[in-house]
Amino acid sequence: MVWYVWDEEDERFVRTRRPPQDSKPAKAIRRAKIRVAGVKDRQKLFEFRREAIETEPEIWLPDELDLHEIRKNIKEWKTAAYSNNFIIVAELGEKIIGFLHLTIYYRLFNGGPSAWVEDIFVLKNFRGYKVGTRLVRFAREIAKRKGCKTLRLIVGLENLAGLRFYKQCGFKISRIGLAIMRLR
Ligand SMILES: CC(C)(COP(=O)(O)OP(=O)(O)OC[C@H]1O[C@@H](n2cnc3c(N)ncnc32)[C@H](O)[C@@H]1OP(=O)(O)O)[C@@H](O)C(=O)NCCC(=O)NCCS
Repeated sequence: MVWYVWDEEDERFVRTRRPPQDSKPAKAIRRAKIRVAGVKDRQKLFEFRREAIETEPEIWLPDELDLHEIRKNIKEWKTAAYSNNFIIVAELGEKIIGFLHLTIYYRLFNGGPSAWVEDIFVLKNFRGYKVGTRLVRFAREIAKRKGCKTLRLIVGLENLAGLRFYKQCGFKISRIGLAIMRLR
């Protein structure tokens, strides 16, 4: 099985053998709870983002690394003011291990109601156990219920793991990296 991992020295994805999956922790990770997060999850969301940054500082843009700014934004987040936004998380015990931000919006000229996915991320030690797939499926069900015709997102064309992941989830990817999943 081919697997892609980020090589920090070469600054590119490299092919590797996929690690074995059939251990006890693997089973637990596969059963992580997927749900919509709310303001009561603020501290857990902060811890998640901090771990994401600390374990892979190289994949973030410089302006995404400021933990004070992140803490402030999470504190000021008000779910009622953004009712078309869904912060979807994967939770294992008390720890958030995966994240996906879904927004429902309206494409005025072409497409009507649609859904946009951003910031999908699974913590490094929890990858390869279908957590990402389950986050996308959960988002897809919300989008369908809201009457959306498509689920869309952008993926970097050099992100080989991301490209393969989205194709496996059922997205069609254009030459500019726009990934679209038709919902009806
Ligand atoms: C992309 C990401 C969300 C995938 O999450 P995940 O929980 O590890 O993915 P899954 O276990 O659900 O993988 C489903 C399928 O995607 C593909 N896939 C996932 N990661 C892969 C990798 N590193 N290399 C190759 N294929 C991969 C496989 O086909 C896999 O199916 P398989 O397990 O039957 O082989 C995760 O790797 C991540 O957070 N990466 C860093 C952030 C990122 O790149 N986000 C997307 C940017 S737009």
